[in-house]
This record gives sequence, structure tokens and C-alpha cells, in this order.
Amino acid sequence: EGVVTLDPGYTNTGSTTSKITYIDGDAGILRYRGYPIEQLAEKSSFLEVSYLLIHGELPSKDELQAFTDRISRHTLLHEDLKRFFDGFPRDAHPMPVLSSAVSALSTFYQDSLDPFNKDQVELSTVRLLAKLPTIAAYAHRKSVGQPLLYPDNSMTLVENFLRMCFGFPAEPYEVNPKLAKALDLLFILHADHEQNCSTSTVRLVGSAHTNLFASVSAGIHALAGPLHGGANSAVLEMLDAIQADGGDIKSFVKRVKDKEPGVKLMGFGHRVYKNYDPRAAIVKATADDILNELHVTDPRLELAKELEQVALTDDYFISRKLYPNVDFYTGLIYKAMGFPTKFFTVLFAIGRLPGWIAQWREMIEDPASKIGRPRQVYVGETERDYVPMDKR
Ligand code: CMC
Repeated sequence: EGVVTLDPGYTNTGSTTSKITYIDGDAGILRYRGYPIEQLAEKSSFLEVSYLLIHGELPSKDELQAFTDRISRHTLLHEDLKRFFDGFPRDAHPMPVLSSAVSALSTFYQDSLDPFNKDQVELSTVRLLAKLPTIAAYAHRKSVGQPLLYPDNSMTLVENFLRMCFGFPAEPYEVNPKLAKALDLLFILHADHEQNCSTSTVRLVGSAHTNLFASVSAGIHALAGPLHGGANSAVLEMLDAIQADGGDIKSFVKRVKDKEPGVKLMGFGHRVYKNYDPRAAIVKATADDILNELHVTDPRLELAKELEQVALTDDYFISRKLYPNVDFYTGLIYKAMGFPTKFFTVLFAIGRLPGWIAQWREMIEDPASKIGRPRQVYVGETERDYVPMDKR
């Protein structure tokens, strides 16, 4: 009673029980609802995984069809919301644009804001899953000054997203099925990761019984930071900088080890994994295939592999158990697909959305959940008297 335990960064504080995602950081194991990530990556699809995370079980054929159909009927954005995109500066970072538009959903769809009405929660779930790819594509088109395309609901969610990002009006868009499959796989790998920074943010905001749209909007801001989802862009910027420096990996690694301010090996290290991130292993194994398929030769892929090799054999990284995380190789794939570097974290957000929704719903349905309200240890001044201005 009365004693507050300090745990900066919550390295050892459980904030909730959860049935959604299991991680064994020492063994490098990740499972959604009990299913190993490797099996889901190979056999499932992003929407099936979304259903699994949110509803707890793999869907039957009919259930998946109904879920998919329902999502495809909600992909349009309200025309007034579409006009928001005119107001942002052209060079705006797409993450705050994404978050602002998601926040605005709570003003356009006021009929699905009640956290305790199951039909409304399902409706806001479907709306978010359907509209986030449209919002993301619009953020991209705005940044390159190209027309916003209406969604084509005869296509799958991922194909439609690619078309809205890269297609042109009045021109058929030829989907490369291998590219669509690769993006679907990357979304699966990002779909949940238990109580990470953005998910904890979604839960904390939602713990005040804040609606799903607003809670997810906050999560998007948390994801944007370079220590979290923003690392996927930061890795490519790091590889570009090393390349511009003549590809001198050794001197870059030395700067990391010397802890030069602001210099970290981006895409390495993880709060929970003290072993190879199983998602990174899958991404690395597919990076070559995807680049070949897209006929892209990127010298930065070789650079990344060399960098990984140097780090994995160096005492600094070995003793701290620092391994590549999911962000280390994804950027190279996104780049090969044609996405600009600063857009990579938006792709992470699309992938993570079902996890945020599942976690928010689990919290709302949990009778044991309470408003999130951490304590503190006060280390400031003791009581003192106000000093008038002329005495300071
Ligand atoms: N490069 C160099 N040193 C590192 C790195 C790195 N990437 N990561 C950790 N360290 C060092 C750190 O300086 C510390 O050293 P010391 O014990 O001498 O003080 C030690 O390793 C432990 O690290 P920490 O910062 O206390 O660990 P954490 O659990 O608080 O941080 C992390 C985890 C992911 C924020 C961190 O590893 C990091 O900043 N990595 C780079 C950014 C990154 O790739 N983030 C993506 C995370 S994975 C998916 C996602 O969320 O997007």
C-alpha cells in the first residue's frame, strides 16, 4: 500500500492479460491465437488473419466471404473527408496525415462510436479495415500530386490498394500477383505484436472508453516514431547514408558502438526478442525472391546483408543480444515495389490495424479492465512559497 514501484518503459510490468498474441523472445517464437507466424505467413491471407485476430478463430469459408464482402462495401471515403487531403501541405509526412484522417472518421461515422454496442463496434471495425488502405493511398497520391482514385471493389483489398497507389484514371491497372502476394504476406507479419508501444497506446486511450477511431488514431502517432514503426524508413535512410559514404560498413558500426549521439543500427534490437525476430527471418528469406520478381537489383540489399553479418559477429551486438528485427529488410522490399521511403511506416500501420482493433476490443470486453493510469515517483521541489515577480 502506498509504495510505487518504478519501471521506466514498463520492461517488467504486465498491463493486461491477453489471448491474442504469444511471444517467446528468447526462443524467437511468435503466434497469433496459437497459430505459428510461419504457418500463417505461408498459408493464410491478411483478411483471414485479421478475422482470426479480432474474432479469435479461423473463419469458415462463408464467414470469410461475408467478412470480405462487408469490408469491400465500406472502402469509399465520404466526399467531405476526401477534401481534407487538399488541405495538407504536399510535403507533409504521410503518418500524421493518416492519423488525422482516421481521427476524422469519428466525426463522419458517429453511428459507430459506442464502445459497448457490439453492432457499432463491428461496424467501426469494418469501416477502419476498409477505409485505412484508401486513406493511405490518398496520402501517397497527394504527396506526389497525382489524382485520387476511387476504390474498385471487384479487386481484393491489397490489389485495390496497389491500384489506388499506382494506377491512373481511365487506364486498367495490371496487378502483379506476386507483388500483391508479397504485400499481403508483409501485412500478415505486421498484424499484431502484443503490448508494443502503439498497441499499448491504443489500449490506454481506449481505457477511458474513447471510441475505436480516436484510439487507433493515437496508435498511428505512436507507431510513427523511429524507435517503433518509423524504423523501417530509418533503415533505408541509414543504408543510403552508408552507401553515400562509399559503403564503409566498419566505420559505421564503430560509430554505433561508440554510441555517437543519434547513431544506432536501425532495424536491430528488440525489447522482447533476444534472438532472431521470426518475422525478420521470413522477410529476409523472401527479399531476394521479391526483388528478382520485380526485376530490381538494389545494391543496398547486399549492403544490408553485409551489415547484418558484421553486427552478428561483433561482441557489442552479441553481448547485448541484438538481432535484426522486422524492420531491417522490409524497407528494401517496399522500395522495390515503388513506395517512397517516408511511406513505409504507413504500410506498417495498415498491417498493424487488425491487431490494434483486436486488442481494443479485448480490453473493452474484459470486465477486469480499468482506466490506464500509471503512478509516478515525485522527485521535484518540496513545498515553497510563491515569489512575487519583483523578488525573483
Ligand atoms: N543499435 C545499437 N545499440 C543498440 C541498439 C541498436 N539498434 N538497440 C539497443 N542497443 C543497445 C543499447 O544502447 C543498450 O546498450 P547499453 O546496455 O550499453 O546501454 C542495450 O543495447 C539495450 O538496449 P535498450 O535501448 O535498453 O533496449 P530497449 O528494449 O529499451 O529498446 C529498441 C528496444 C527496439 C527501442 C532498441 O533496440 C532500438 O532503438 N533499436 C533501433 C530501432 C528499431 O529498429 N526499432 C524497431 C523495433 S522492432 C519493430 C517495431 O516496433 O517497429
